[in-house]
Amino acid sequence: MAVSQDYKMGQFDFPRGWFMIAEASELGTTPKSLRFFGKDFALYRGQSGKLVLLDAHCLHMGAHLASGKATYIVKANQQLEGDSIRCPYHGWRYDSTGRVDDIPNFDGPCPKNAKLNSYPVVEALGAIMMWHDPEGGEPDYPPPTLPEWDDQRWINGVYDHLGILPIHPQEILDNMSDSNHFGPTHGVPPEYFSNAWDGHIYQQTQGGFRQEYNAYLRTYTWYTGPGLLISRQWIGPERSCELIFHTPVENGTVQVWNNVAMKAVNEPPTAEDHQKQLAFQQLVLDAFAQDFDIWTHKAPALTIAALPSERNFVLGRTWYRQFYNPRADAHDYHAKIQGEHLLPHLAQPPAEGYLRDHLG
Ligand code: FES
Ligand SMILES: [Fe+2]
Repeated sequence: MAVSQDYKMGQFDFPRGWFMIAEASELGTTPKSLRFFGKDFALYRGQSGKLVLLDAHCLHMGAHLASGKATYIVKANQQLEGDSIRCPYHGWRYDSTGRVDDIPNFDGPCPKNAKLNSYPVVEALGAIMMWHDPEGGEPDYPPPTLPEWDDQRWINGVYDHLGILPIHPQEILDNMSDSNHFGPTHGVPPEYFSNAWDGHIYQQTQGGFRQEYNAYLRTYTWYTGPGLLISRQWIGPERSCELIFHTPVENGTVQVWNNVAMKAVNEPPTAEDHQKQLAFQQLVLDAFAQDFDIWTHKAPALTIAALPSERNFVLGRTWYRQFYNPRADAHDYHAKIQGEHLLPHLAQPPAEGYLRDHLG
């Protein structure tokens, strides 16, 4: 297993950014135990509805705030009080900022510096997302928005949980600039292809004939930060949005989710439209499985034997490294890659109006 240091990512083992950590529907009234970025977390929805994410291990004697099911306080559903949570071992209570604000059988004031780390956490696109920052800073960009997700004429899918892949997320990011894999891996050799980089956004525009379906496939795909990919896709008459979210678990492994929203034929959508969305999500998943198949068995590409026409690999890797290094240095990475990078052999412009209609 190759880790961040093997890829020479930079100063940090894990990147800065917004990351999916759970599906919103997975979080009921009990706290959920999570592990990402080589750390354990406790996630819960406070009684006001506020989402709270804290380091998992109690400052008293290290009990996990969210992993047990057997203790009395958990079974009696007494762990949450307002937006605070009690440790299931001796009942220390933590507020939503992670500060200890009540200790049972103790009259003195709570220790001043008894505070767990708490993390910015939001619900968006049916997912719960956290802000991870090795430097402990506040978010410097918002999570992605997708108007289609809130549009009644669209049907949102349910997340496919694709499990934990034993690869570094760099290998997934490489897909964004990989014009030459579309033919052999997916059966859609691109007729045009470009990447563009703008701060924390990494874009790909491409299109080609999908042989399997006898239809033209156009995609506009973008990362918002290092772990959240959205792809608008047009294949024949169908319009869809694919969401591929991935989050490091340990240094060198990554958890992956996939989802597809699809525009319904009817308004409001009928049962038939819902069936069609399900079948379409499976088709999209099958295409993603083609990448998965490669990633699962490949050796780490610590360096890429890139052809002259594949220089976007290098630019994409430069973009990604901004998140593994101090925020103060991000502009140095931007300066190296900012702008659109066409591939000379795939540079013919897309059909008229395509960029105007679909990049907004
Ligand atoms: S270990 Fe959490 S209260 Fe004692
Ligand atoms: Fe791919």
